[in-house]
Amino acid sequence: MKVLVFNGSPKGKTSITQKHVEFFSMNFPEVEFRTVYISKEIKKFENSSEYKSETLKFIDDSDLILFAWPVYYMSVPAPYLRFFEIIQDLHLDKHFSGKSGALFSTSIHFFDHTSHDYVRSMCDILDMNFTCGLSAHMEDMTKTEGAAKMIGFMKKAIRLSKNNHRTPKQFEKIISPEFRYNPGKACTEIDSGESSVVILTDHGSDSNLGSMVERFAGNFKFPPRIVHLREAELVSGCMGCLKCAGDQICIFNNKDNHRKIVEEIIVPSDMLVIAADLRHGYFSAEWQKFLTRLFYNGHVPLVKNKFMGFLFSGGFNKRPFIREIFEGFLLHSDNSILEFISDEVNDSKLLDTMIDSMAVEMMNDFNEKYIPFMKFPAVGAHKLFRDEVYGRLGFVFEYDYKHFKSNKLFDFPTGKPHMSILRFLLSSVLKIPPFRRRFYMKEMIPGMLRPYDKVLKKIKTKTP
Ligand SMILES: Cc1cc2nc3c(=O)[nH]c(=O)nc-3n(C[C@H](O)[C@H](O)[C@H](O)COP(=O)(O)O)c2cc1C
Repeated sequence: MKVLVFNGSPKGKTSITQKHVEFFSMNFPEVEFRTVYISKEIKKFENSSEYKSETLKFIDDSDLILFAWPVYYMSVPAPYLRFFEIIQDLHLDKHFSGKSGALFSTSIHFFDHTSHDYVRSMCDILDMNFTCGLSAHMEDMTKTEGAAKMIGFMKKAIRLSKNNHRTPKQFEKIISPEFRYNPGKACTEIDSGESSVVILTDHGSDSNLGSMVERFAGNFKFPPRIVHLREAELVSGCMGCLKCAGDQICIFNNKDNHRKIVEEIIVPSDMLVIAADLRHGYFSAEWQKFLTRLFYNGHVPLVKNKFMGFLFSGGFNKRPFIREIFEGFLLHSDNSILEFISDEVNDSKLLDTMIDSMAVEMMNDFNEKYIPFMKFPAVGAHKLFRDEVYGRLGFVFEYDYKHFKSNKLFDFPTGKPHMSILRFLLSSVLKIPPFRRRFYMKEMIPGMLRPYDKVLKKIKTKTP
């Protein structure tokens, strides 16, 4: 049995992910494991035809492909995305087609499921036989139970691969849209006054995205600042070196314009539109470089209190995890997302109306300062970060710990003595059968409604 591992960590051999791969290889001596450090070597894969054909030969020669990566920004590191882009652009699917594939990630479980969705979608579009996946917390391998689960996973992947197990596909291929967006003439004329509207985009000349960006911008009396990602001249995405954790200074700080764009344009903005071409099934690797570099600020959000919207070309409706990622990532830091608009509506007039409405409503919400409540992805995001930063992460990310503490974000339900006393008293009283009967049969529902009735009564007394 030959397993080919595509290691997705930019740290290559010195990555936590690779320690897990070593664990697999030591526990399964009868299996031949070969690792390609594809994220670390992405430039070689892209530019050297020798390296590329050697890698493709390894694929042809393998029985099972193990995609092993660290979760970065709810997806994968930028070079891993680039790898999948190259595979698609060069039509290398035939090397993967019919091969068994297994997924393994390390992370702190923050949107690990969306990251798995992304890699699963790549297995599906490459016509691979997906076997199974495992998402390990970065500390799991060091615990007996975690180590046992890892062995269970690898056993299963090998068994399913040997049995040529078939699973239904979860994700469809994305086909380039034939629809050409022709924006109409009339736009609204919004006076954004002193507020700042920014559009961050990666549109190319051959997609509808450029026209969508122009249409949105055209709604404002004072033209919004349009920043094309190429202005950032990114030398790299985040390498995961964590050298920024002490002083929030990235090793690439003065080598490109990332920080300048973030701190001089994005942070001070009031309304922010993200425009992305999803032709490869997710944000581009260039976008992921930009996003992962935000890690210099650790778990403290840089994008907050903004009224936001998304413009997409292609792919959005077939990749539901994209909405989930951004609703989790952005809504837990007091941003509001007006809409996700994609050219998949295939109708220029309708697209005009949707884009114009988003511009108008963004301005209205900004004026009203209306930010809705968070939903589960954002609530969950907050709680997970809170617990991790309070725990071991807080030692390394001291700045994050201080931020959470000073902003009262360690809002655990525990540590509130009055709650414990109340619970103790109530549970003691409820042990007495007549009280118990009365509470559950009669008092509970009216008791639950009492605080709302109080609010409604106050309004009633105020209204004439
Ligand atoms: C830039 C960056 C982004 C990250 N994003 C996430 C994330 O979205 N979700 C998560 O659970 N962990 C995230 N992590 C934590 C890593 O997934 C985790 O530490 C992983 O084990 C690192 O593996 P490696 O050493 O193989 O790169 C992130 C780490 C870095 C450096």
